[in-house]
Formats: sequence, C-alpha cells, structure tokens
Amino acid sequence: MKKILVTGALGQIGSELVMKLREVYGNDSVLATDIRKEDCEVVHSGPFEILDVQDAKRFSSLAREYHIDTIMHLAALLSAKAEANPQLAWTINMGGLVNALEVAREHNTQFFTPSSIGAFGPNTPKSRTPQDTIQRPTTMYGVNKVSGELLCDYYYQKFGVDTRGVRFPGLISYVTKPGGGTTDYAVEMYYGAKENKAYTSYIKSGTYMDMMYMPDAIHAIIQLMEADSSRLIHRNAFNVSAISAEPEDFAQAIRKHIPDFQLSYDVDPIRQAIAESWPNSINCQAAKEEWGFQPKFDLHSMSEDMLEKI
Ligand code: SER
Repeated sequence: MKKILVTGALGQIGSELVMKLREVYGNDSVLATDIRKEDCEVVHSGPFEILDVQDAKRFSSLAREYHIDTIMHLAALLSAKAEANPQLAWTINMGGLVNALEVAREHNTQFFTPSSIGAFGPNTPKSRTPQDTIQRPTTMYGVNKVSGELLCDYYYQKFGVDTRGVRFPGLISYVTKPGGGTTDYAVEMYYGAKENKAYTSYIKSGTYMDMMYMPDAIHAIIQLMEADSSRLIHRNAFNVSAISAEPEDFAQAIRKHIPDFQLSYDVDPIRQAIAESWPNSINCQAAKEEWGFQPKFDLHSMSEDMLEKI
C-alpha cells in the first residue's frame, strides 16, 4: 500500500491533490500536513498532522511514524508574496525543500515538488519556451524554483532519491483560491464575473501567460509519479501547460456565458513586471513524450466548468 505525505495540504494544489490521492489510493494512504488545521474535508477524510516544513525533526518523525514511501512537497510562498518578503521566501521555500529532500533521502521515499513558469526569466525565449533553455529569473520565487530544480536533480544523481517535478503555469480552480501569485487574476476574474459581472485586472491587457485547469494539474502529478522511471530523461522539472492566454481572452470566454461581463484594468506594477519576465507560452513536448502528459481542458471547456461550479 502506498503511504504518501503531502505538505501544504490546505493550499491551492494541496487540498485537491489530497482528495484525489485518497480517492485513488485510499483515505489512510495519504497523510495531509499543513501549518494550520481547518474544519474541512482534507482534515476529516483521512490522517492529518500539523507540520511546519521548517521543523526537520518533526518532518522526519512523521515520515517514520506513518511509514511514508512518497513525499509530495507543496508548502511554499507564491511569486508576489515572495517578492514582498524575499528573505522569508528563501527561508520557507528553500529551507522547507532541503528538509523535505533530507526526509526523502533518510526514509528512501519517492519525491515530488512543483516548479513553476516562474523559473524562467526575461532572457528566456518567450514563445514555445523549450524544456531546456536559459533560466535566469529576476524574482525571488524564480530563484527559489531554479535552485529547487537543481537541488532535486542533485538528490537524484547523488543520493538516488527518485525526485520528479513539473513547472506549473497559473492553476485555475473553483475549490481553493490561490494566494499571493501573479496568475491569480485569472481565478479572480471568474469569481468577479459570477458575483458582480465585473472584474478589475491588475495585469495589463495583452500580457500572455500559461495557465491550466486544476483537474489537469492533479492528473499530471499522479501520472508523472506513476511513470516508468526508465522513460524519464528529464526529472526536475517538466514544462506543463494547457492554455496560453491574456486577460481579454478570459473575458471573451466568460462572455459566452455572461454576455454583459465587464473587464477593466488597474495595473499593479510589481505583478505586471513579474508577468512580463515570464514566458508567453511554454513547450510541453518532453512531458508528452516521456510520460504522456495530455491536458483535457482548454480555455473554453475550463470556463464553462468554472462558471458552472463556483
Ligand atoms: N501561479 C504561480 C504564481 O503566480 C506561478 O507558479 O506565483
């Protein structure tokens, strides 16, 4: 039986990943952890423990106590929050990752952690961004993500830890809202459309970024972790995306369902600068070839589903 420990389990990816993993592998197979406890499905449907990923000792003792064989390390500060407090971001994002990798090495577990489109920078090719390319990000989040990719590859090569990862684009979900990211505007726009038929975007019209619907993101994690190791030429981390879009594209897709939806702009220079340093659309060929990545939702099917469910 699989025994998976998920950190950041109450976060945007975590809450849906835990529920899906419990559906696939059984409720008791998934230990959800986070720095706080909430009255929610993740906490009630299976084992849950408080864990601050900076506490290496507790991290290791939980892995021992629950006989963990897979770690999915999600706890991190997102791009805009990291830019507001870069020192804290380094401490949590890198300190937490090193602790998680050490627990994986000590307990011989499989390991997943997400990287991001934030691992690219202004001199990365903007369109069809290759899997292997220039990575000189200009944000603390990006510095964390590139360092994390390298560190995971290092643990694989040096210690034989089975580390795997993807570079997630902006993730869109009707379950848990993101917090402190640059791509959050897309999620907020659906809620604005549903609640007020209006949204004011902090990202400028014409700014393209990669996006993906959460069910595709969750499926990608499970598929990558199940993939035959011998097929993986890359490990940390695979480009994955389903949609390349700018604010007007979302507005148009929303207007098919809410025709009088109004989009206006009040640009936030900090998040706009982050967005402009990231690719417009990334190339996911390596993920397709090495483990069969194939997202199901495009902008229109995602919009229909989002507007129906929120
Ligand atoms: N969605 C993330 C962010 O905006 C990108 O990884 O920070």
